[in-house]
Amino acid sequence: MKFFVDTADTAAITELAETGLLDGVTTNPSLINKAGRDFLEVVAEICGIVDGPVSAEVVATEHDAMMREAEVLRKIADNVAIKVPLTIDGLKTCKKLTGDGTMVNVTLCFTANQALLAAKAGASFISPFVGRHDDVGYPGMELIGDIRIIYDNYDFATEILVASIRHPIHVLDSAKLGADVATMPPNVIKQLFNHPLTDRGLEAFLADWAKTGQSIG
Ligand code: G3P
Repeated sequence: MKFFVDTADTAAITELAETGLLDGVTTNPSLINKAGRDFLEVVAEICGIVDGPVSAEVVATEHDAMMREAEVLRKIADNVAIKVPLTIDGLKTCKKLTGDGTMVNVTLCFTANQALLAAKAGASFISPFVGRHDDVGYPGMELIGDIRIIYDNYDFATEILVASIRHPIHVLDSAKLGADVATMPPNVIKQLFNHPLTDRGLEAFLADWAKTGQSIG
C-alpha cells in the first residue's frame, strides 16, 4: 500500500520524505488555507520534494472553468495529479484530462456507485472519505471493501486512495481490504511507527549494551 501525506505543510512533507517511505501528497482547499501560502507556489515546492503524485484541487464547479484551472495546475510539474470533485462536471473533466494522459484524483466520494462512475471516467485515483462517514454514524471502511470488490470485478485500474483517515486503525483496515493508497495527516503517519513496547525494549537493550563496555566499529 502506498503512503501519501494529506497536508500542504512543506516542513512536515520534507520530514516524512526523508524516511524514504512517502509515495505522494494530497492537498485540498482547506489544507491550502491552513498552510496560509500561495497555492501555486506551495504546490510547486511540494512537487520538488516528492517524486510521486501531488494532488492539487480545482475550485471551479463547471467543466470549462475546471479545464482552465487544470491547465494552470498541470503546468506546475509532471507529478501533479488534478483533483476534481465527484460531480457530473468533475467526472466530465476527469474523462477529458485522463484522455490527455493527465493524472486525476476524484475526491469527495461517499458511495461505491460514485466510485464506479469515477473508474468509468478513467480516474487515476478515487478518494473515498472514511472519517467523514464515521462522523455521521456510517462505517466508512465498508465503502472501501465495496469499491475493492467492484474494481476487481471489472479490472479497473483506478487506485483506491483512502482519504479522511483519522487514526492508525483506518490505515490497518485499508491495508487489510487491499486499498492501493492511504493518505494520512502527518501525525497519523508518525503514530504508525510507535509502540510503547518498542521504546521499552530499546531502552533495555541499550542499558544492557552499555554494561558490556563495547562499541561497534
Ligand atoms: O483530502 C481529503 C481528506 O483527506 C479530508 O480529510 O479529515 O478533512 O475529513 P478530513
